[in-house]
Amino acid sequence: MMRFTGKSVLITGAARGIGLAAAQEFAREGASVTITDIDLDEAEAAAAAIRGEGLKAEARRQDVADEAAWDALIADIAARDGGLDILVNNAGMGFLKSVVDTGLAEWRRLMAVNLESVFLGTRAAIKAMKDKGGVIVNVASIAANVAEPLFPAYNASKAGVAMFTKAAAVDCARKGWPVRINSLHPGYCETKLVVDAVGALGDEAAGFAAATAAAIPMGRMATPYEIARPLLFLASDDAAYMCGNELIVDGGYTAV
Ligand SMILES: NC(=O)c1ccc[n+]([C@@H]2O[C@H](COP(=O)([O-])OP(=O)(O)OC[C@H]3O[C@@H](n4cnc5c(N)ncnc54)[C@H](O)[C@@H]3O)[C@@H](O)[C@H]2O)c1
Repeated sequence: MMRFTGKSVLITGAARGIGLAAAQEFAREGASVTITDIDLDEAEAAAAAIRGEGLKAEARRQDVADEAAWDALIADIAARDGGLDILVNNAGMGFLKSVVDTGLAEWRRLMAVNLESVFLGTRAAIKAMKDKGGVIVNVASIAANVAEPLFPAYNASKAGVAMFTKAAAVDCARKGWPVRINSLHPGYCETKLVVDAVGALGDEAAGFAAATAAAIPMGRMATPYEIARPLLFLASDDAAYMCGNELIVDGGYTAV
């Protein structure tokens, strides 16, 4: 299937993990992909590997929490590709700490990276897309839907992403702007974000990992590919009637 031929796609935090898998799949379906990440070396390596398949990918350094960089980045992409068609707000971070162990500075940084960035990116993309149309996919999490006692900051940020997505989507729809905005809610997925967060628990890491696996009816975490494919669905015309909706992809975690 080649659903994205001629489309310009910007994916944040796409040097690795879910974003990288999505970048590969968009490129394989014909898109011109811009990979941004706070780690430029890793982003450039990812883009080079995609170009090595004979596909279109470029890398840019971006801290998604930096307001000033957003409009310039989208203008830069529009100059190269003739416009931006799809934005995936994917960059994110997480740590496992209870409420009483969470410091204000780390709470604020997580909110800036996971939630403020989605506002900044969505605002910039709507301005660029409102006349000719476009699609925005915001990567939330099942943490927007179910609480985890060691995830209070992450829970709050992802619930914020989900509700912000609905408000922005409804605003565009009611104004008649052809910009579709939805949120993707992955369950546990095998990426560095999860490995690092669980590893930081030290002696409690093995117990947390075992309890988490036991709570997933399918009995295992997702691969990044298994999250990327539903993400592409949300970005495609197959999801034309989805507006402010949540797509949960979690191996049954929230079904029980
Ligand atoms: N892995 C999971 O289990 C899981 C579950 C639900 C949701 N998610 C969400 O999926 C998204 C991708 O996560 P992942 O699991 O692939 O993690 P990951 O750590 O593998 O990838 C995240 C990427 O974001 C980049 N990044 C971090 N801060 C950034 C910043 N300020 N600016 C730009 N880039 C930045 C990192 O360098 C990294 O390349 C995140 O929003 C995460 O919250 C992940």
